[in-house]
Amino acid sequence: MPRLRTVLLVAGTALVARRAMRRRIQASPLWPMPALDEPISGRPRARALRLLLTRHETVADGVAQLRLEGQALPAWEPGAHLDLVLPSGLIRQYSLCGDPEDTSSYTVATRLVEDGRGGSREVHEQLQEGMEIEVRGPRNRFPLAPDAPSYVFVAGGIGITPILPMLRALDARGADWHLLYGGRTRASMPFLEEVEKLGGERGRVTVVAEDADGRPDLAGLFADRAPGTAVYCCGPEGLMEAVAAALPGHCELHLERFAPHTSADGNGPFEVELRRSGRTVAVPAGTSVLAAVRAEVPSVSYSCEQGFCGTCQQRVLEGEIDHRDELLTDSERDDSMLICVSRARGERLVLDL
Ligand code: FES
Repeated sequence: MPRLRTVLLVAGTALVARRAMRRRIQASPLWPMPALDEPISGRPRARALRLLLTRHETVADGVAQLRLEGQALPAWEPGAHLDLVLPSGLIRQYSLCGDPEDTSSYTVATRLVEDGRGGSREVHEQLQEGMEIEVRGPRNRFPLAPDAPSYVFVAGGIGITPILPMLRALDARGADWHLLYGGRTRASMPFLEEVEKLGGERGRVTVVAEDADGRPDLAGLFADRAPGTAVYCCGPEGLMEAVAAALPGHCELHLERFAPHTSADGNGPFEVELRRSGRTVAVPAGTSVLAAVRAEVPSVSYSCEQGFCGTCQQRVLEGEIDHRDELLTDSERDDSMLICVSRARGERLVLDL
């Protein structure tokens, strides 16, 4: 009998312990989700490479150019960008502005943003020649249309970086192109000499330095353009909005943003139900869904926090989405969102998380 009592006691204790453990697991923010080493969307992360920083030089006021060397580097096409994983862990995207034929190095350039979020300052002040830098990509969300009848480019300051390889490629094949390149001063505009040389005597390049020339004449730039002209613009948000407003209906606009598109309205609070984990989080005004969700689910996947990489894509089960990214396709927008930038149109969203 004492032996039977002991067996029953051990079995009962094990059962209680098992139930307690199960309750703790179910209360965990990870239950019943799998570990989130990979994005829940299944969107693959770009391959990572470690490259040697062999050149870090100033090429215009406040603009640093970096040369990163490796071997047999993945190919890229004009318009592509790299993710740089900075020593602090910040990830920033920079357009490739070197030669796509060069498979031993990548070249990027970045402007120091005094009141930015720290990425450009780290590039300018912490990175040094001889350091190894992790990069991911290249990826291209700003590709050059192969067969437009003519091309018009509008670059604002550092926005020249994705456009420069496009100009070289178009010039090499004798395509019809024109560039309007604007900046605060000539000294602040990187690659100005090369750009003017590319334009040559043919009047293909119009340089507008604001301190000397004032505002660019966009209406004049678009006057008499042929139907189907491909217009590429990269620069500050205000410039891109002005180009979109001045664009004739028969031209095709392509935009490259260095910062997430922001909406003046619709930044108010709402709540997000995480259906699989059985929780609801409040998203205050001015806080991203990602930040609110991370407080409950620290392992949720994310990377750029700017709506560029797609790592934070989540399926949406209910609610109307206010999409604020430039990445997702129309069909992806039907039932998913990038939670680092996009918000709810109403008071509530339900995520499959
Ligand atoms: S974290 Fe990169 S798109 Fe959201």
